[in-house]
Amino acid sequence: MALWGGRFTQAADKRFKDFNDSLRFDYRLAEQDIEGSIGWSKALVSVGVLTQEEQQRLEIALQDLLVEVRSNPQAILQDDAEDIHSWVESKLIDKVGSLGKKLHTGRSRNDQVALDIKMWCKRRVLELQENVRELQAKLVETAEKNQDAVMPGYTHLQRAQPISFAHWCMAYVEMLDRDYSRLSDAYQRMNTCPLGSGALAGTAYAVDRERLAQDLDFAAATRNSLDSVSDRDHIIELLSTASLSMVHLSRFAEDMIIFNSGEADFVELSDRVTSGSSLMPQKKNPDACELIRGKAGRVVGALTGMLMTVKGLPLAYNKDMQEDKEGIFDALDTWQDCLGMATFVLDGIKVNVERTKEAALKGYSNATELADYLVAKGVPFRDSHHIVGETVVYAIKVQKGLEDLTLDEFRQFSDVVGDDVYEILSLQSCLDKRCAKGGVSPLRVAEAIAAAKERLK
Ligand code: ARG
Repeated sequence: MALWGGRFTQAADKRFKDFNDSLRFDYRLAEQDIEGSIGWSKALVSVGVLTQEEQQRLEIALQDLLVEVRSNPQAILQDDAEDIHSWVESKLIDKVGSLGKKLHTGRSRNDQVALDIKMWCKRRVLELQENVRELQAKLVETAEKNQDAVMPGYTHLQRAQPISFAHWCMAYVEMLDRDYSRLSDAYQRMNTCPLGSGALAGTAYAVDRERLAQDLDFAAATRNSLDSVSDRDHIIELLSTASLSMVHLSRFAEDMIIFNSGEADFVELSDRVTSGSSLMPQKKNPDACELIRGKAGRVVGALTGMLMTVKGLPLAYNKDMQEDKEGIFDALDTWQDCLGMATFVLDGIKVNVERTKEAALKGYSNATELADYLVAKGVPFRDSHHIVGETVVYAIKVQKGLEDLTLDEFRQFSDVVGDDVYEILSLQSCLDKRCAKGGVSPLRVAEAIAAAKERLK
């Protein structure tokens, strides 16, 4: 039965009911709705609506319900209640009779749903932070194992300068660090309790909302009732954090797909995260990475959808807001899955060090070194850049690496080149020289790994 029988003479049409009901997705808020209800029952004692004894009976019944819900959340879906709030209330009435009907005094589903979704989001933030940390730990572990794997670094997807596979791993550790801190920021801002705001204007019972907030594990009560019931910033912030992190994961996946391609052959992905072709027996496709890249789209879609849903809404609550749930549920589930899958992908990865080195030696990725060498011999950088450009054109023509040119060949372009050039052009020297903070020198990378391990503890 609907919650508002008195005002209506006709039942809702089945088609409207199906359209309007949210139980099929908001059943996921059952635990939060029950915990919030226990908190509210205590507040009702303080304003004389419930006796201690009544509150005890309600609390025991609600705790029972919590146990049932935890053991089988899907069972809720069998019911035809409109939403999770009406479901909890009707189950409570089944358990304790008409005492259950007192619980909704001074409360509205508007402050109730605002509370439930905030509690749910807070819990998910803490979980997601753990998932982010797990992926970071796996990246650091992979970096540690692959400090000697030299490979080409790219700009414009053209070989640019040599880097190590470890340095590449550590770049993603940094991105995820920012994702983690965005979650922390969002958590702080969402840590205010809207319960006790009523439908929109505040509750008519003088409950101590700060105490209620504390009971429900919030840092403080919200300050304005209109804002409390219409605020969905926390959802939008989480969607935006998820979107940006999915963009990071998508770039990770794209790098992996390129590294795993026949053309690059830098890494081999494990059989456990790849699939074969039904037709072409030789194929081993990077589906896990492609799906991570693909799923970024739907997470960003949820963010866009939610922004559009909220943008034209007058204060305070509007039913449009019910549309917040499927998007945030799906987006956070997806993000969590992808964090886990990225961790799993790294778990079985093999870096083909001969191939990465061979590629690093090609593509004239030591050309900057030669330019710096000429600078050290007194040639102005702009001139040295030009000289090296001409040298590279020549080297391409004779199909040699810069390090394979003879001194006579070098001297066609600059007479300052001496025997000491060969040392400078080695891969090791290219790496070692980049020793300023954040650079690819093996020493700096080892430090970065050690520092990250310390941070992740
Ligand atoms: N199912 C609703 C939602 O998710 C709960 C709030 C209903 N409030 C109302 N005034 N109809 O937004």
